[in-house]
Amino acid sequence: MRTQVAIVGGGPAGLLLQQLLHAACIDSVILKQRSRAYVEGRIRAGVLEKVTVDLLDKVGVNARMRREGLVHDGFSLAVDGELFRIDLKALTGGATVTVYGQTEVTKDLIDAATQRGTPIVFEAADVALHGLDTDRPSITWRHSGSHQRLDCDFVAGCDGSHGVSRGAIPSDVRRTYEREYPFGWLGLLAEVPPCDHELIYCNHARGFALASMRSLTRSRYYVQVGLDETPEEWPDERMWDELAVRLGPRAAATLQRGPAIEKSIAPLRSFVAEPLRWNRLFLAGDAAHIVPPTGAKGLNLAASDVHYLSQALIGFYRDGSTAGIDGYSAKALARVWKAERFSWWFTGLTHRFPDSDDFSRRMQMAELDYIRGSHAAQVTVAENYVGLPLA
Ligand code: FAD
Ligand code: DHB
Repeated sequence: MRTQVAIVGGGPAGLLLQQLLHAACIDSVILKQRSRAYVEGRIRAGVLEKVTVDLLDKVGVNARMRREGLVHDGFSLAVDGELFRIDLKALTGGATVTVYGQTEVTKDLIDAATQRGTPIVFEAADVALHGLDTDRPSITWRHSGSHQRLDCDFVAGCDGSHGVSRGAIPSDVRRTYEREYPFGWLGLLAEVPPCDHELIYCNHARGFALASMRSLTRSRYYVQVGLDETPEEWPDERMWDELAVRLGPRAAATLQRGPAIEKSIAPLRSFVAEPLRWNRLFLAGDAAHIVPPTGAKGLNLAASDVHYLSQALIGFYRDGSTAGIDGYSAKALARVWKAERFSWWFTGLTHRFPDSDDFSRRMQMAELDYIRGSHAAQVTVAENYVGLPLA
């Protein structure tokens, strides 16, 4: 089998890249490790920046997002239960975010690939990359016991944080930057209306909490928990009680409880691997970088990476230009690092750190109070939250 671009991984990065390339008549094949059902069943990100919405519009995978996605003009910050609003739309001159789950984005992109006949190989095991420093790279894998091979011009490593692509860059070329946080997020999905019409990010003395949603009838909540805790230690009633305390009396009054459809704990991490290109291999999305979820940036960064990458590949195939390919890593990383900074900062502002003392808490309170009273500070928060423009 032969294609122009072999895409390893079929999460949002790989699936969106394939549709961007397809729109420019560039052939690609996606190799996915998991089944369709597994990918479509995972609950992950929930907030789309305008940049991501625009890219889904551009590839025409937007009908359901436009119909079912909830456009949010703002969100609230809660400090020990007292709320104040960040008016994203007014502060940014019109920008909004769209609440539409990653699971739905993934489903829509897989449906589009099926309808458009852009190939996806599901359940590809033992994926291995070869000849990345030649102009004839290839990928091999096993499927239902038989060995398969795909020859290509380029490999796009979109295989998430545990994929094989990042490790294919020699260790003397690759640099990594990392910060682990001493806590995780316990997430709960329930078929109940959200407690507010917008998201609430909450700094409480007992720890961070987030009230989010997937629709007007489906809520997504998170509470900060210790890394040694398990979902089993958090029966539904305990989670609802804790949310009521951390979100404060106003949100608690409208908090509707219901059985958890899903409950899981995700650790928080900041991570960047550089460069994003080595010879014929490109990295995009979680394969290259991880952000703590506080700023809702993970999926959105995957989208901006593949925008830059598709532009680079289109330049190569259309005009024979290597300028885009040569500049991809620096261009994508400039946006990645700013989102890393915002996610790290927002995490520090809203979470309780095990080693934090009274002074650190006072600093958090002072900064939140400053944001509440300063238009300039709110603009900074808002323009980062809605997503920085594409360079
Ligand atoms: P992924 O979605 O990880 O997709 C990678 C794909 O590659 C997967 O389908 C995987 O099966 C496949 N793959 C892996 N290895 C191989 C291989 N060897 N061969 C072939 N295929 C392979 N972000 C937010 O903004 N908000 C959130 O609330 C949020 N919650 C999260 C919760 C969890 C538990 C995790 C892990 C992440 C969360 N994120 C969140 C981050 C966000 O989901 C990711 O940034 C986003 O999924 C990145 O997309 P991606 O396509 O780069 O990687
Ligand atoms: C969701 C997750 C986030 O990390 C975030 O910042 C906002 C919303 C969510 O899953 O709905």
